[in-house]
Amino acid sequence: MAKRYTSDLTWNDVTPKEVFFNRRAFMAGGAALAAGTIGGPVTAQGLREGDTPNTFEEISSYNNFYEFGTGKDDPAKYASALTTSPWNVEIGGLVDNPGDYSFADIMEKMTIEERVYRFRCVEAWSMVVPWNGFELADLLNLAGVQDKAKYVSFETLVRPDEMWGQKRSFLEWPYREGLRLDEAMHPLTIMATGIYGKDIPNQNGAPMRLVVPWKYGFKSIKSIVKITLTEEEPLATWNMINPREYGFYSNVNPDVDHPRWSQASERRIGGGLFAKRIPTLKFNGYEEEVAGLYEGMDLTKNY
Ligand code: MTE
Repeated sequence: MAKRYTSDLTWNDVTPKEVFFNRRAFMAGGAALAAGTIGGPVTAQGLREGDTPNTFEEISSYNNFYEFGTGKDDPAKYASALTTSPWNVEIGGLVDNPGDYSFADIMEKMTIEERVYRFRCVEAWSMVVPWNGFELADLLNLAGVQDKAKYVSFETLVRPDEMWGQKRSFLEWPYREGLRLDEAMHPLTIMATGIYGKDIPNQNGAPMRLVVPWKYGFKSIKSIVKITLTEEEPLATWNMINPREYGFYSNVNPDVDHPRWSQASERRIGGGLFAKRIPTLKFNGYEEEVAGLYEGMDLTKNY
């Protein structure tokens, strides 16, 4: 099994800034060696100076969740219509224990941790989010991944009565995403179930949503009801709609521009309209942890 990722920082550690730097100095003594972070401006979690967590308000009021409309404030306005309990996730395909897993059961079995991650949207805005969640690998291991499995596919629920956007064809429903199995099993990949220790708000993908911090935000599919282990590369919503603009991998890469805009910098939400743009880091700052997954691949072709 993949190694567990140990969180170095919690949101308490990263605010205020002085604590963050003291913590880094402390880490330089030992823990950071193991995490391989000496010498760089980035900590093991990819956080760096200025990476102050966004407020709960910011994180839950500026969203993309097309099932509730295409405006950034639509999800906060309309997502309360979604019933999230009871909730089942169907896990199937190449697994030893296929079936419906209830969210309540999953929560009893999983280790919930806090992970403060940078979150970078393809539209060139970003946030720092203190998620609570469990490693996706733990859930997949519960289902028992078979040797033939190479990919994991995810689907959001379809319930137009509660998700009015699904009465329109903004996207093809259900929203789908996919990861290669090694990406899915990577210890940085989590299923988020909370923010700032509270249950995850509906607009952020209740009751559980994927978070893959080195990929653009659209890979982090919300309100998941189906997980399938497959041999073939699965469909992914944005890649289906516009493969030229959105590849299957979608790793954050400042060197590969989106056809319509540069990906070299980002605007941190909450910094105000005139806030300085900050440079985007390769793999969103998680290069040390994940670059090995893509060794030998041409990332300008596999974008
Ligand atoms: N998941 C579903 N089901 N539907 C969506 O429209 N939007 C994606 C992703 N997951 C989306 C989704 C996009 S484009 C982004 S940037 C992130 O969710 C936004 O997550 P946030 O609102 O929690 O910041």
